[in-house]
Amino acid sequence: MQAGVCYYPEHWPQSKWAQDAQRMVELGISHVRIAEFAWSRMEPEQGQYDWDWLDQAIETLAAAGLKVVLGTPTAAPPYWLITRWPEVMPLRADGTPWQFGSRRHYDMSSPDYRRECARIVSVMAERYGQHPAVVAWQTDNELGCHDTLPSYSPATRTAFQQWLAAQYGDIHALNTAWGNVFWSMEYPDFSAVSFPVNTPTDANPAHLLDFRRFLSAEVASFHGLQVEIIRKHSPGRDVFHNFMGFFGAFDHYQFAKAGLDLAAWDSYPLARTEVLALPESDKVRYARTGHPDISAFSHDLYRGVGKGRFWVMEQQAGPVNWAPWNPTPAPGVVRLWAWEAFAHGAELVSWFRWRQAPFAQEHLHSGLNLPGDGYSPGGEEAVQVGAELRQFPTVASQRGHVALVFDYETLWFTDIQRHGKTFDYQMLVFEYYQTLRQLGLDVDILPRDADFSGYALVVVPTLAVVDLALVEKVSTSQALWLFGPRTGARTRNFSIPATLPPGPLQALLPMQVIEVESLRPSLTPETTLAGQAGTAIHWRDHVRVAGDVQTLAAFADGWPALLAKGNVQYAAAWFEPKLHLAWLEQAAQSVGLVTTRLPDGVRVRRRGEITFAFNYSDTPCVLPTPQSAEWLLGSNELQQGQLCAWRESATAVQR
Ligand code: GAL
Repeated sequence: MQAGVCYYPEHWPQSKWAQDAQRMVELGISHVRIAEFAWSRMEPEQGQYDWDWLDQAIETLAAAGLKVVLGTPTAAPPYWLITRWPEVMPLRADGTPWQFGSRRHYDMSSPDYRRECARIVSVMAERYGQHPAVVAWQTDNELGCHDTLPSYSPATRTAFQQWLAAQYGDIHALNTAWGNVFWSMEYPDFSAVSFPVNTPTDANPAHLLDFRRFLSAEVASFHGLQVEIIRKHSPGRDVFHNFMGFFGAFDHYQFAKAGLDLAAWDSYPLARTEVLALPESDKVRYARTGHPDISAFSHDLYRGVGKGRFWVMEQQAGPVNWAPWNPTPAPGVVRLWAWEAFAHGAELVSWFRWRQAPFAQEHLHSGLNLPGDGYSPGGEEAVQVGAELRQFPTVASQRGHVALVFDYETLWFTDIQRHGKTFDYQMLVFEYYQTLRQLGLDVDILPRDADFSGYALVVVPTLAVVDLALVEKVSTSQALWLFGPRTGARTRNFSIPATLPPGPLQALLPMQVIEVESLRPSLTPETTLAGQAGTAIHWRDHVRVAGDVQTLAAFADGWPALLAKGNVQYAAAWFEPKLHLAWLEQAAQSVGLVTTRLPDGVRVRRRGEITFAFNYSDTPCVLPTPQSAEWLLGSNELQQGQLCAWRESATAVQR
């Protein structure tokens, strides 16, 4: 568990660097990320490099004993590059180009841009790859941020056509797979296929889906190109990318296969609470702490993407500038966020940023230091974290209690065809996640093809396509599997399965979904799950039982609500939270997991033999903790924004 910081030496006079480095060390910082937007300073003119300043910045940090994380600068191509190759500038769907003057203004499919990226990354990696202080590399910065995928350019179109040709072989196969006979959409050849935009009404969902698949592959290959170069010149260093929270424009599991030693992500809990589709009451309640599960969700997701290894590369340290409203965090909360990350297994929490910039787009974005120097309120809390880390024992993470499946393709399927305005896959998964956390369970978020052996409970909020491999996995699994509505609703090509949903899952659960309905807020079919009365919201499947399936609960109008057979259960609707709570509690207890309904806004998380507890609510709480607890941080009385950690050396953590 180590602390880091994001630093921009090019923003400050060189006379400040040594003192900055010294103060970082005093604060307990070990890692410093630099350079990810500094292309115009590395190469002010085409082919004319200026490495002096970066050499000296690295030497200054290294001399203070700091480890350097180098970002490749490809998120911000300089002006000369854009003017020399204007087609690098991305195009909007209407064909007009974006303008120079911010960042992420590039077309990742442009062969010119890929060549230029390969060149700058090669020169950089050759120069610094073997430097003893350089311990890790970040490729680019937040790929896809600011909604910059895709560029609707000729280069992207050609790459898409080539991708389609490789997938389908001949155009008739594509026409059949997409169902292009509908509305005479048949294409004569691959070169006729364009982007699924600017059509008078909906584009074909299969077309939209394949475009998303293509883009996902394109992002991974853009990253992979850089990884290959870095690995060649900088062996033994960690290579990663800094992902974002609740971002699904590309498949992060697929991306990881293009080369990652760990997953890193950027955590801005207050801004994320503002922008996510949460109930207004949650936004109000958690405006100064962040929603208690928002960061945790991404920690648990990215730990899976990184195959157990994850960093928080940017951690909010005070108010930010980019949400609709940007409040200051409640006292203690900046510290709490760091410990929440460590509790979930983070190896490194790196604050964004060392010092608030008094100029340019982010001058209302705080840092650990005020623009004129001296710690900000968040900086003071970072000092405390640094001191606490020095005393804290080293602990390894272990597997969580429950596996929760998150599937990027399912996000695309349901986004392309929400069918109901409020069907939001990420929120469905997030609601299951919140419920599990409210029950005090540790959750591992995993891809559909993960190894689930060892879990007693696997939760699949929904999964657009069920294949035979998954059916085989479930049928030989010891776990109880809970599936949500819309599971198995489509084939890979975006058709309804010939046997009707849930497709091949019927081999284990003989039932058919004969109709579906999305529910406006006033339509709330009633049911009772595990003794709890409540309603469906957003969505309901109408299920016909087709064999020896048990109907564990039915709606008042007769449609089944919860079905079961063997180790499989199927929820035929999106239920309101109190129903999810009752159902998941009963399911978890039925497989021997110990659950505790935690006070509102309080969360716990175990790492090794240590249990952490966090209070995000404005109500103080006293936690029931064991007599034998050895306190490592705080105590069992938690005010808002406080946390505690204890160890019970003699007692095994309940699994
Ligand atoms: C991130 C980005 C940083 C900075 C930060 C501000 O999205 O990676 O460069 O802009 O947001 O919150």
